[in-house]
Amino acid sequence: MNLRALAARVVNQVAAQGRSLDTVLPPALGQVRAPRDRPLLQQLCYGTLRWQPRLAWLAGQLLNQPLKARDAELGALLWVGLYQLEHLRIPAHAAVAETVEAARALGRPWATRLVNAVLRGYQRRGAELNRRADGDPVARHAHPDWLLERLRTDWPGEWEAVVAANNRQPPMTLRISRLHHPDPAAYLERLAAAGLDPRPVPGQPWAVSIDPVAEVRSLPGFDHGEVSVQDAAAQLAAVLLEAAPGQRVLDACAAPGGKTAHILELTPGLAELVALDISAERLGRVRENLDRLGLGCTLSSGDAARPEGWWDGTPFDRILLDAPCSATGVIRRHPDIKLLRRPADIPELARTQAAILTALWPLLRPGGMLVYATCSALAAENEQVVEAFLATHGDARERPIAAGWGLARPVGRQILPGQEDRDGFFYARLEKPAEP
Ligand SMILES: C[S@@+](CC[C@H](N)C(=O)[O-])C[C@H]1O[C@@H](n2cnc3c(N)ncnc32)[C@H](O)[C@@H]1O
Repeated sequence: MNLRALAARVVNQVAAQGRSLDTVLPPALGQVRAPRDRPLLQQLCYGTLRWQPRLAWLAGQLLNQPLKARDAELGALLWVGLYQLEHLRIPAHAAVAETVEAARALGRPWATRLVNAVLRGYQRRGAELNRRADGDPVARHAHPDWLLERLRTDWPGEWEAVVAANNRQPPMTLRISRLHHPDPAAYLERLAAAGLDPRPVPGQPWAVSIDPVAEVRSLPGFDHGEVSVQDAAAQLAAVLLEAAPGQRVLDACAAPGGKTAHILELTPGLAELVALDISAERLGRVRENLDRLGLGCTLSSGDAARPEGWWDGTPFDRILLDAPCSATGVIRRHPDIKLLRRPADIPELARTQAAILTALWPLLRPGGMLVYATCSALAAENEQVVEAFLATHGDARERPIAAGWGLARPVGRQILPGQEDRDGFFYARLEKPAEP
């Protein structure tokens, strides 16, 4: 099928049906006959979603009247067409011709003239329209209104840098296995020899960004577990947990297992690591990841907010709560978040986060420590959850994080999206004093 038509279908499934890109893109990639065309489909989908609020504004200016709801897929095709003209180096005549042809592939031959007129209109009026788009905050920053408002409120001095970072393509960051490479230098040399231009991450010797983006299987030693793909901010969780051999550790929201694997690489000799997730299906991903890395732990499927369903009654020395969240810190990697999240999701998520934190606290041994983490950039899911928890739990106190990364908050530390080219993450550490 025509690549632009496939892209429009994918983008529309996200925009109109609220489905995630991770769910709808793989089957579409499977429909692309020539493997060399797959990266373009991927780029069309990611790029169009990244800029969708601006592209929708531009399409609105170029259409004489709004499209009917049943033609939403056609609307998505216009965004795909505009994205190519604005952001890709494909010759304009080819981009227009392919997009016009896609209308036919989508079963709307009547719309070929409309698509042609909109795209040609953009070629003529692009400069003027882009000037006007910059006067509209949603189009200018390519973010939904509600999210701009929240970011402005939470980050009055930083929100513009945050939205700009959300609109940039992220680096591909790797975690070198300490088990295989107690000294990461030799692995960095292998990356360089493979032409992958390794860029070490400050203060994180086993984290490295590479350029260009590589297919994971082509990374040196990937199949043997020498390396994993994980953003540098996510690589801080296992370090902050400070687990030690002999301890019992709970990774409470573990799938797909990036942080689980890192804890195991960092601390051989744990008494037990329990990787819990509410989704049995997603736990399968943890198993696959651990198998590749030659690692093992106890996998448990259950609701972290209801330990009575899965806890054996033995307390944990360390708990990592990488809580379900809005993912507003990782929009640069998941641009579909801009369309999928709704303002009402945030208080709902904050309630879930508080419920899980409260339910897990009794499972922590006195003298133990819990790390609360999210990939959210919003205070309501981060410091506000932890502050409210501390206010109602006399046996919990913060263990401050002394670090060079991120920003100190009333409790915990926040890395904003793009800060030192890391994903947006929040971390807070809570300890339970040892019994006298
Ligand atoms: C942010 S992801 C975790 C990422 C993971 N820690 C990693 O580093 O690969 C959140 C996970 O929480 C799980 N989850 C959501 N609600 C949960 C609950 N009530 N109990 C346990 N797991 C839950 C989701 O299925 C999802 O896999």
